[in-house]
Amino acid sequence: MAGGGAAPATSTSEAMPPVNGPAIAATSMEQAGEYLTIVGGCNDCHTQGWSESDGKVAPADRLAGMNVGFRGPWGTSYGKNLRTIVQRQTEDRWVQVLTTADGGDGKPPMPWWNTRQMSDRDLRAMYRYIKSLGPKLNGVPRSLPPGKEPSGPYIWVAPQPPK
Ligand code: HEC
Repeated sequence: MAGGGAAPATSTSEAMPPVNGPAIAATSMEQAGEYLTIVGGCNDCHTQGWSESDGKVAPADRLAGMNVGFRGPWGTSYGKNLRTIVQRQTEDRWVQVLTTADGGDGKPPMPWWNTRQMSDRDLRAMYRYIKSLGPKLNGVPRSLPPGKEPSGPYIWVAPQPPK
């Protein structure tokens, strides 16, 4: 089972729809989605405490966003609360955002270049898994333009010249 012994998602969809090309196989879309969010690295930036706990965050607390910013030439961006986003976005819109870098507005270090190459079914599986977790409120700061000082912690994601 995916998730290193973690409990599987509670609600499950019907059988996995067919796919054209490489995609994950699992008994349900939610189980595939849980696995994909782990191996796709989504928790690394969208789950508070994921790396600090060595990936031991219960599904109920995953993907609700991170309050450590990613600062670079684009300003400061934050791994958003995906639990809230899937509640207010349709599945089709989710696929569109992840395959178009949010219409070209999406900022780094979100790996837009990777999600646009995922199969449609895998993208939908992640949506259904995250939606099955239900909403979870979490105070994720708003992104900031370049030159604006974040009031909370942040990570520099731009190369620094050697000392
Ligand atoms: C290296 C860090 C990082 C990783 C890994 C990452 N994200 Fe993100 N993600 C971000 C950041 C930062 C943003 C905000 C980008 C912006 O402000 O434009 C974001 C934004 C998003 C959005 C857009 C939310 C909206 O505004 O509608 C979605 C959806 C998303 N990520 C899903 C995922 C999924 C699914 C994965 C795993 C396949 C993933 N992310 C992996 C950092 C990351």
